[in-house]
Amino acid sequence: MTSRVALISGAGRGIGAAIAERLLAEGWAVSLGMRVPVLPPWAAGAEDRVHLQAYDAIDPEAETTWAAAALARFGRIDAVVANAGIMIPKTVIEAEEAEIRAMMDVNVHAPRRLAKAAWEALAESGRGRVVILASLSGKRVKAAGAGSYSLSKFAAVALAHALRHAGFERGIRATAVCPGFVATDMALALSSLGAERMTDPKDLARVVTLILDLPNEASVAEFAINCQLEESF
Ligand SMILES: NC(=O)c1ccc[n+]([C@@H]2O[C@H](COP(=O)([O-])OP(=O)(O)OC[C@H]3O[C@@H](n4cnc5c(N)ncnc54)[C@H](OP(=O)(O)O)[C@@H]3O)[C@@H](O)[C@H]2O)c1
Repeated sequence: MTSRVALISGAGRGIGAAIAERLLAEGWAVSLGMRVPVLPPWAAGAEDRVHLQAYDAIDPEAETTWAAAALARFGRIDAVVANAGIMIPKTVIEAEEAEIRAMMDVNVHAPRRLAKAAWEALAESGRGRVVILASLSGKRVKAAGAGSYSLSKFAAVALAHALRHAGFERGIRATAVCPGFVATDMALALSSLGAERMTDPKDLARVVTLILDLPNEASVAEFAINCQLEESF
């Protein structure tokens, strides 16, 4: 397999689907982690470069199973896009322990396990890449109701930095991608802004593709992108 290979979690819809579609169109082979694996319509005709993997981020064994299956299918892993995520809109006072744990599990622990499971293959690539779909909520607490989510996304940003440090000498580059509102199910359920005023997932996919393509000497630690004006982003 000469194409570079990317694992994308939550690839069935939203930002993950847009990234996977773009990577496939640009010649990558894609391993799509989905709770319900179904060949997306945009992948039809390119099945030789598409791998479907049943993936639930709450299963702590799922990442090792997935990385092994992707390696068995393609023989290499060049990038991990940890995109699957959940948002429970509660303040840190309202949220139940289980809700905080669920966000930490899906938004932080699972991405760490996924990077770890792919680590040796990423190093072998010589230009391994990890993109953590964090959030601007990992950079600032915008409102009380976003507080619990922010807790997990600050940790997700820290995870990207920690991976960047852990992998730099082995050619692995890690990036925290930090969007504001992106027009997907998640944001449309939270905001009345309207899809046309939110960042298009396809534009985020362009950003992620660029980050994955940049050489080792152009490491991007964080990439913040917003559809609105805020003080710093
Ligand atoms: N949309 C935004 O405004 C925005 C802004 C900043 C950051 N983000 C982040 O970007 C990422 C993608 O968000 P999105 O907007 O595309 O959200 P979305 O439309 O709600 O989609 C979420 C994705 O995550 C998957 N997922 C959720 N829980 C999972 C689990 N336990 N195991 C495996 N997959 C799971 C979903 O799979 P199913 O289809 O099976 O549910 C779906 O593919 C998330 O990490 C999110 O926090 C989004």
